[in-house]
Amino acid sequence: MFGESRIERNRKSMRLSPRIKELQPSPTLSLRQRVQELTGKGHTILDMSLGEPDLPMPRVLREAAKQAIDEGWTRYTPVAGIHALREKLAEHLNQRKGTHYKASDIIVSGGAKQCLAQAIYSLIAPTDEVLLLAPYWPSYVTQIQLAGGRAVSVPTRAQDGYQPDLDKIQKAITPRTRMLILNSPNNPTGAVYSRATLEAIAEIALERDLWLLSDEIYERLTYLDTPPFSPAEISPEVCARTILVNGFSKSCAMAGWRLGYMAAPKPLIEACETLQGAWTSNTNSIAQRTALAALDLGQGFFDDLRGVFAQRAHCIQAGLSAIPNLTVPAPQGAFYVLPDFKAYFGRRTPQGSYITSSHQMAEYLLMEAKVATVPGEPFEAPTCLRLAYATDTQIIEQAVEQIKHALAKLDE
Ligand SMILES: Cc1ncc(COP(=O)(O)O)c(C=O)c1O
Repeated sequence: MFGESRIERNRKSMRLSPRIKELQPSPTLSLRQRVQELTGKGHTILDMSLGEPDLPMPRVLREAAKQAIDEGWTRYTPVAGIHALREKLAEHLNQRKGTHYKASDIIVSGGAKQCLAQAIYSLIAPTDEVLLLAPYWPSYVTQIQLAGGRAVSVPTRAQDGYQPDLDKIQKAITPRTRMLILNSPNNPTGAVYSRATLEAIAEIALERDLWLLSDEIYERLTYLDTPPFSPAEISPEVCARTILVNGFSKSCAMAGWRLGYMAAPKPLIEACETLQGAWTSNTNSIAQRTALAALDLGQGFFDDLRGVFAQRAHCIQAGLSAIPNLTVPAPQGAFYVLPDFKAYFGRRTPQGSYITSSHQMAEYLLMEAKVATVPGEPFEAPTCLRLAYATDTQIIEQAVEQIKHALAKLDE
């Protein structure tokens, strides 16, 4: 008994650092818990909140992983990744993008997320400002806060297809701005930035002495005729200002394996290596061997993947657009749509409450339509919900139908 009360007292008086107290938990992770609770109570929930492909990891990659285990490939590797992988990643980027990376310009980490966090932590000092094009992936804000920096959002508009507004970017730059984060194809908007747009942004970055942190995790999922484009491709000068981040979670269904990489000027790679050495050391050794095999997947594999997701993108956009008063910009890439539910705000639910926020709309759709979506607030899209279409078209069609019926029950 004595032990218990002491434990309880310690728990209540636990003093967490202010750094941690300010952080917001990931909106998708808390939602996942809620979906699990409801499923546990016997509800069938159509989960449109998950940010990972439903497809299995390709067989050749599973075989490569098994082989690595059988060969006893289970020891520490160099912190920045095995040399063969860093070398192959550099070659892979140079071949596809015409860049001139060497193995020493590459670091391999526990997912694109760790690469992004380390790049931000290495470059952003307290009071530095980082520009984010809103709506944005909320993890960037957390990572900037952890570095002591300030996230400054630059809005983009649904009616412009969520394309960046160059004037607004220029106006948001102050003497403290050090970095602009780009994410194309975009989570949560599905927007893809054109070569011309990225060239114009790169010109601003050179003029105003900014880093471009280019999160290209959805690079393989674009539904446009033009191939995906990275600012690193523009010129050696822009490449020297670009931090290119990518990984295997979305393109190879390897989200759980935690493997991402970053290509950047060597001094930054070395800084990230020091940081990674202090925090986590190398990422999973078996995942690194698997990534070597993933780099041998032919273009046909990625074309098939793109085909599947393009069909799903069309299916969800067509379905949601047919619902009265719902605005749904057509996704150009990634696997998200961000419909605007503003027209339904202020309406009354059959239970008698009023919908006044995206959180309430998401909760209503979860309980009434049995569809899990992510509220737009944390993405700085307060009247929208994010729906992921990383699931088959039958489920997408059913979810759209259930959303339509639930919305029709709202009183004006
Ligand atoms: C925009 C964006 N960047 C990065 C990541 C993280 O990718 P990884 O699994 O490689 O850490 C995600 C995952 O959802 C994402 O949406």
